[in-house]
Amino acid sequence: MTEQKATNVTWHEHRVSKEDRFKLMGHKGAVLWFTGLSACGKSTVANTVDHLLHELGKHSYVLDGDNIRMGLNKNLGFSADDRAENIRRIGEVAKLFASAGLVTLTAFISPYRADRDKVRALFQPGEFIEIYVNASLETCEKRDPKGLYKKARAGELKNFTGIDDPYEAPEKAELVLDANTKGIDELAAEVVAFLKNGGYLA
Ligand code: ADX
Repeated sequence: MTEQKATNVTWHEHRVSKEDRFKLMGHKGAVLWFTGLSACGKSTVANTVDHLLHELGKHSYVLDGDNIRMGLNKNLGFSADDRAENIRRIGEVAKLFASAGLVTLTAFISPYRADRDKVRALFQPGEFIEIYVNASLETCEKRDPKGLYKKARAGELKNFTGIDDPYEAPEKAELVLDANTKGIDELAAEVVAFLKNGGYLA
């Protein structure tokens, strides 16, 4: 549990309720929490879904690993504690975005089940959708767009997820995408179909 340092703070209810905002948006806010190994396709699928939603006239936004680590979370590295804090902050930000009525897409490795479950616990049932972008280590390592797997194998990069740091695959993801055999457009279409069938876009 993160220590509550500030004292004498009280929670203020918003005058405009979450439901009022959803009505104005024309759909509910939710979080699509993409998780998977580096280079599994999380960001690319999330950005493609974002684009499709935009074309459908839905309000969405992507929070992306590398970008957030260059700003909000620039003081965090890749130890288990820092990854936990990275995910905790993103979870809180995603909650704010979703309560503003946005379909919020997050693309972080988020390798620890406990960290993801803590984020899930911030949300009402149905608001947090965990999406496992399942690509094998072999597939990701073959892609290696940033040359990081190569560096990790050579021992130049320590604690790299999948090589010398763990990745705990989800056990109860709402959606599992097979990124070993399917392309980005097909996977993005699966996500949009899930949202349509679940009544998220109505
Ligand atoms: S997380 O584990 O805390 O969720 P996050 O998704 O924010 O990670 O950042 C992962 C990105 O940081 C990778 O795509 C990669 O570009 C870069 N990176 C740098 N060092 C590491 C590392 N040791 N393990 C994983 N990713 C790393």
